[in-house]
Amino acid sequence: MTQNLADTSRPAAAPTAANAGESRGWWRDAVIYQVYPRSFADSNGDGMGDLPGIRSRLPYLRDLGVDAVWLSPFYASPQADAGYDVADYRAVDPMFGTLLDADALIRDAHALGLRIIVDLVPNHSSDQHEWFQRALREGPASPLRDRYHFRPGKGENGELPPNDWESIFGGPAWTRTENPDGTPGDWYLHLFAPEQPDFNWENPAVADEFRSILRFWLDMGVDGFRIDVAHGLVKAEGLPDIGAGDQLKLLGNDVMPFFDQDGVHEIYRSWRRILDEYPGERIGVAEAWTPTVQRTANYVRSDELHQAFNFQYLSTYWDSAALREVIDLSLDSMRPVDAPTTWVLSNHDVTRHATRFGNPPGNTQIRTPGDRELGLRRARAATLLMLALPGSAYLYQGEELGLPDVTDLPDEVRQDPSFFRKAGQDGFRDGCRVPIPWSGTEAPYGFGPTAGGPSWLPQPAEWAALSVEAQTGDPTSTLELYRSALAVRRAQPALGGGTEVTWLDSPEGTLAFRRDSATGEEGGSFVCTVNTTAEAVTVTAPGRVLLCSTGNTEVTGDQAVLQADSTTWWAV
Ligand code: GLC
Ligand code: CA
Repeated sequence: MTQNLADTSRPAAAPTAANAGESRGWWRDAVIYQVYPRSFADSNGDGMGDLPGIRSRLPYLRDLGVDAVWLSPFYASPQADAGYDVADYRAVDPMFGTLLDADALIRDAHALGLRIIVDLVPNHSSDQHEWFQRALREGPASPLRDRYHFRPGKGENGELPPNDWESIFGGPAWTRTENPDGTPGDWYLHLFAPEQPDFNWENPAVADEFRSILRFWLDMGVDGFRIDVAHGLVKAEGLPDIGAGDQLKLLGNDVMPFFDQDGVHEIYRSWRRILDEYPGERIGVAEAWTPTVQRTANYVRSDELHQAFNFQYLSTYWDSAALREVIDLSLDSMRPVDAPTTWVLSNHDVTRHATRFGNPPGNTQIRTPGDRELGLRRARAATLLMLALPGSAYLYQGEELGLPDVTDLPDEVRQDPSFFRKAGQDGFRDGCRVPIPWSGTEAPYGFGPTAGGPSWLPQPAEWAALSVEAQTGDPTSTLELYRSALAVRRAQPALGGGTEVTWLDSPEGTLAFRRDSATGEEGGSFVCTVNTTAEAVTVTAPGRVLLCSTGNTEVTGDQAVLQADSTTWWAV
């Protein structure tokens, strides 16, 4: 199934330090834009986004002002979990294109000064992966069984799962197999869907294979990997029972026998050695859900990965006190390991922040549209706050258009596997995966080549007004706010860089902090003020307004009015 590429002898060169940022680690303050390939741009009109589509839109991303692009999986996959079920780690799924398309995409991105990060899914494969298929076909004696977690069932006839672990997507984390002779056989472990069997990382063949996969994509020229379920690879010895149900609720707080086991770190140390063999600072980014930010910091020790997503930040509501607390906690926890903090508000697994903040505080998957106008106003303010913090920021495609989540998708079009396995993680992730509106007045709004053509999830009629075309040149649009913010961030050395914020006194319900340029140059300082309340608040103006999430901040003499739910950037 592996596709061959004509010429891999010339790795596509990464952007040089001169065109892609500073020298002490380009990634330390990078703005990284997540592309969800199914939903970004469809070049051939089949309703599914693809690599040539992404390639054709790279100039848009360069002009937006991001440093790197992270692509969710585009590998050969039956798409039981939208590509997070990989059948061949070295092949592009025909639905997305070919390896040659991937090669062209990487080269074009580099020529535009953009870096490319690909998704790596090492916790589990697809059940259609050759190893798993052989393990099933060959039966209990197959040596390939040990590359996954096969176990006999409990009970008189093995009719009960081997332990009490629950799948994140709902139901037991075990599925029973059938022997080649048709009799009921062993069970296999899958922390996610049954189509996603977990690898056994104690088996050296698994580790060898992933080192080889890393090299394959590094040779293709990618600048890094986002590591899916980085906290899940190693399971506690003996796969012990948890002894409690409703395990999803425990995930945030307790160390589970299948997550965040200390053994994962040895794997990342071995990967770091490989990344460091390649020129151009290739990076690893952990998707690690751990009970505390301190435990997240373990993934980014100097001999492990470079960054880890800050899900504590993503889970924090629009509230000044809570935000200040999580910002301090995040910066403090990364300082001992000298890793940059990261910031993220949206991704393909959670309700978009424009919708979360228009609803009362709750979890990260929400089914109600809430107050759309309020949500967008807060989302714009939250983005300016995020982009003013030291470290690297992750944007999710479409947030720059202020897209809301689509909360009213009909059940028949939904594809999130957890939607169909009730009682697991809420299955409402399709709402943030609806294809991007680019232009025109008729769906798919330039997502595909033909007006009236298909898109794998339907787009709401209101999205005509939210397209890239409709927002471009409109100074009040969210797209222009993102463009301005990213341009200012590039021009202001005090933004993004460093590891400190200096909190300034500010009235209740507001935040004010100063950022000083690392080089200490005159005029290089910057202040950010945030008002998370529903009332305007008057403060002493800290300097000259650079940008405001509501378009304007009134300044009279030395008094400035911070409008309700707004963020302002100031040059001082
Ligand atoms: C990660 C991905 C998510 C996927 C899961 C299983 O959390 O972000 O989309 O469903 O892993 O691979
Ligand atoms: Ca397509």
